[in-house]
Amino acid sequence: MGLKEVARQIKEVANIVDVIGEHISLRRSGRNYLGLCPFHADKKPSFTVNEERQIFHCFGCGAGGDVIAFYMKFHNLDFVEAVRELARRFDIPLELSAGKEETSGKREALFELNEKARRFFEHLLWASKSGEVARNYLKTRGLSEKTARLFALGYAPSSYDSLVSHLRLSRFDLALAEEAGLLVRREDGTFFDRFRNRLIFPIFDAARRVAGFGGRILEEGDPKYLNTPETPVYHKSSILYGLSHTRAAIKEDGFGFVVEGYLDLLSLYEAGVKEAVATLGTALTPQHVRLLRGLQAEWFLVFDADEAGFKAALRAAPIFFNAGLFPKVILLPEGHDPDSFVRHYGARAFYDLREGAEEVFDFMIRYLSARFPAGLEGRLALFKELQPALEAIKDPVLREMKISQVAERLKVSESALRKSLKTSPERVGSSPAFSYSERSLVEFVIHFPQYFLELWEAGLPEVLKDKRLLALLKALKNSKFSAASPSDLTLEDLELQSLWSEILLTPPPFKDYPPERVAVEIKSWLLRRRAKTRLESLLKAIKEAEASGREEEALRLLEEYQQLRLQV
Ligand code: UTP
Ligand code: MN
Repeated sequence: MGLKEVARQIKEVANIVDVIGEHISLRRSGRNYLGLCPFHADKKPSFTVNEERQIFHCFGCGAGGDVIAFYMKFHNLDFVEAVRELARRFDIPLELSAGKEETSGKREALFELNEKARRFFEHLLWASKSGEVARNYLKTRGLSEKTARLFALGYAPSSYDSLVSHLRLSRFDLALAEEAGLLVRREDGTFFDRFRNRLIFPIFDAARRVAGFGGRILEEGDPKYLNTPETPVYHKSSILYGLSHTRAAIKEDGFGFVVEGYLDLLSLYEAGVKEAVATLGTALTPQHVRLLRGLQAEWFLVFDADEAGFKAALRAAPIFFNAGLFPKVILLPEGHDPDSFVRHYGARAFYDLREGAEEVFDFMIRYLSARFPAGLEGRLALFKELQPALEAIKDPVLREMKISQVAERLKVSESALRKSLKTSPERVGSSPAFSYSERSLVEFVIHFPQYFLELWEAGLPEVLKDKRLLALLKALKNSKFSAASPSDLTLEDLELQSLWSEILLTPPPFKDYPPERVAVEIKSWLLRRRAKTRLESLLKAIKEAEASGREEEALRLLEEYQQLRLQV
């Protein structure tokens, strides 16, 4: 029996209201059940469970999906793990393919190894003679034992085989430790320790499991930091250092700082600034930003006031905008990083930096202004630089707001700016009666599945540029989808689950028009659009044929062109 089949059976027998009700308290409200969302700092109940459709959705943070999605998110499991637990719980026999068993089992084994190594390093830091060098180093960096223990810092001695021996004694699989990034294999097949003579920073995932490590050299040497390479449980593009420990404070206080280094974060924490997260030697990625967005806080990006800092801020901007977040930028005084700043000026001064923080657009404008000539021409050139960032704002309302803000700052008319912007990616088409966004098209076929196939065939997937919407539509196409019984659809991807539940629980689009009418409009628009595309390529082909003297072909194409013209 395949995993999807097991998932389907689970959804047949498990009532989502009962399962979620065991985890959080729900009360009935009309056709739904409401509760406080376990996935964000919910003040009023925005977490909705719909029994009829067997889905949940939080209108506060956007989390949502079916009972499996809830289990994945709540217990921080992957799809296979969640299905396995729920299957056990509801007595559904489960014979998963060996491959799947293996991947999930392997993750567990890697976490176990990391935990073993973490305890070993930590022990060496505090209890070994050789650990003294690291204990002294902590002092020079101003880190107390309390903070060091809280973040489970450790010490890796200079020998090449201390962890190797330790793992071998406990009968751990050394090849697996290599996969965990803890050991390196020599040509002759023997292993040696990756981390040597370093202060060790365990990197925790959201569930506080050790996903990987960073290690700072204790004397001068290269590289300054060594990190766990990518492994099945460690992906640096989606993990933020410190978040495991600072999430609660960030939620509680409603703001957070994004800094760049392990020691920046620890030093801030030591000083009492407990609202920071650190990237791990990479630029911010969309996955990072998604994590940040989930905390529903105001974000401050802290950069050094050098060229690299400016560049990093510019690079981060569109990624945040894309997620609908508008962070502020804090530029530290020349020569300081968060660590040196907070040690020099103290926590109060660091918090006060928020007052001078700039909106990202203001920052970009100010920074770029210095690089372009004054005068209208320079301002328009500058605007070109801002364009990708503006275009990254998906929400049409937010985008309008930012356009007027930028127009005002640049002293250029809004309409001039708008003209040079690509049309909003949200709005894909309009007909005399109404205009529709990609999103509303997908909403429509989900709410009115009787038109799904017809519109699919008329070219709906061709007009979707938003990858998530397209992925959702394809998943629906591949299932025996009907909105009335969503249990037929199993999505492994949590993001798609959220999108799907959100759409199911929001009212159908175009509510002022009867759905038959809407379907007809959309269909004819799709067909016209397709014809237009065909016309354009015909026109090109005709020109080419004429240019190279293939007259007969050109005539034939022209005929097709004219016929098609009549239909559009
Ligand atoms: P920095 O060079 O700014 O180091 O790198 P730092 O954090 O301020 O450390 P100290 O104060 O010099 O001890 C910032 C971050 O970039 C990553 C690390 O995550 C580091 O914290 N990095 C840096 C690496 O991964 N490898 C390196 O060789 C250097
Ligand atoms: Mn530093």
